Amino acid sequence: MTLHPPDLPIEGIRIAPIGVEGFRVIAALYALAFDDPWPEPSVRELLSVPGTWGLIALNSVPSKSDSSGDPVGFILARIVLDEAEILSIGVPPNWRKAGIGRALLTAALDQVQEKGANKVFLEVGKDNPAAVALYTDMAFKQVGLRKKYYRRSDGALIDALVMQKRL
Ligand SMILES: CC(C)(COP(=O)(O)OP(=O)(O)OC[C@H]1O[C@@H](n2cnc3c(N)ncnc32)[C@H](O)[C@@H]1OP(=O)(O)O)[C@@H](O)C(=O)NCCC(=O)NCCS
Repeated sequence: MTLHPPDLPIEGIRIAPIGVEGFRVIAALYALAFDDPWPEPSVRELLSVPGTWGLIALNSVPSKSDSSGDPVGFILARIVLDEAEILSIGVPPNWRKAGIGRALLTAALDQVQEKGANKVFLEVGKDNPAAVALYTDMAFKQVGLRKKYYRRSDGALIDALVMQKRL
């Protein structure tokens, strides 16, 4: 997939679709981006559910070991009929604040619209200002609250905001 120039976050980043065969790449990105990552088998299972797919951001200036470029972010989404859900998005700490998250979300929203969705939901922890700011900036609105929805690694129970965007 090629992003139009204004959407390119930083030079050399491209966004590509990834299927269930990419579960190891996604799990590795999860481990870098989240304190409580998902293990490889859970990622594989998630990607095997019909209607589920992902995009990854690749730094296309290739490293010596990998001619296709290093993965620097991912997004997972699911479509059921005309509704889509953003299941997860993550960018490793050293690549944040460079526009990669926004580019991944923009590309995923384009894809779900093309696939026939007219609204998109997601859940986000109230304790995650970066993600809430990204979604708010991309015109998601809060439509619900799930009390004590996430258990963090320190045992804290955190409310989730349910956010929606109409396409
Ligand atoms: C949320 C996350 C994906 C954002 O990725 P990113 O590549 O850093 O985001 P971008 O650089 O594209 O930022 C886009 C917008 O998001 C908001 N934003 C991103 N990081 C922010 C921060 N630390 N504080 C406040 N706002 C922030 C801003 O509105 C920003 O726009 P701006 O750069 O014009 O100010 C990233 O912080 C991450 O991986 N976090 C850990 C995993 C996670 O929590 N995922 C979400 C689970 S629901």
